Amino acid sequence: MSAKKDMDLTLKIWRQKDATDKGAMKDYTVKSVSPDSSFLEMLDMLNEDLVNKGEEPVAFDHDCREGICGMCSLYINGEAHGPDRAVTTCQLHMRKFKDGDTITIEPWRANAFPVIKDLIVDRTAFERIQQAGGFISVNTSGNTQDANGIPISKHNADKAMDAATCIGCGACVATCKNASAMLFVSAKVAQFSLLPQGEIERKDRVLNMVHQMDLEGFGNCTNTGACEVECPKGISLENIAILNREYLMSSLTKEK
Ligand code: SF4
Ligand code: FES
Repeated sequence: MSAKKDMDLTLKIWRQKDATDKGAMKDYTVKSVSPDSSFLEMLDMLNEDLVNKGEEPVAFDHDCREGICGMCSLYINGEAHGPDRAVTTCQLHMRKFKDGDTITIEPWRANAFPVIKDLIVDRTAFERIQQAGGFISVNTSGNTQDANGIPISKHNADKAMDAATCIGCGACVATCKNASAMLFVSAKVAQFSLLPQGEIERKDRVLNMVHQMDLEGFGNCTNTGACEVECPKGISLENIAILNREYLMSSLTKEK
């Protein structure tokens, strides 16, 4: 049980009817919010109030509410996923705020992530980047080598597992002043480049994923490092160095 008492809060929330609407911030109040509740539960309370008053509830994305799916993309008080570190919005607790606080809630802002409604953005650009190369081909003829029979160094296995924890939430893009998707793409490329299973499409993967990233309108990395700070999964900038090396090596050695 938290020692903190329930809170009354003012919320400034981005409301936008659809993709064509100009949108604006709107003020709301929520009362008696338990510090033990999650940020999304607090938004559920607000929506229940709005529905009871016959008003349109605030649209926001969520699914697992366990930090796994990457859906809960909110910009809270100017920070992707709010003031806590290494958590998604669904894992953010109201004890991070205090009674009487004003909380600003906005959607991700990036040209490649257009707002669909209120706090929901279209992140299918990430899916198209994945489809361009974020996969491996496996021989399923019946002669497939047992994966456990392929030696992988502990160092590479650990690094690949770390990169694989990226949940595709887009906080890196939302945080970056260039709206760069480099941290996301680098996590996907590094994950496979560190494992023998990723060898087959190695060169095509990085070239195609970077090409799609550019087509989608994401900006470039200028080594600010904000993405790494706000990433809920702690994806390291080191992956961007791997991405750059993979890209250079593939551009120079790929047969035309
Ligand atoms: S790198 Fe981090 S912030 Fe970017 S999509 Fe992956 S988990 Fe989210
Ligand atoms: S709702 Fe799935 S990560 Fe937050």
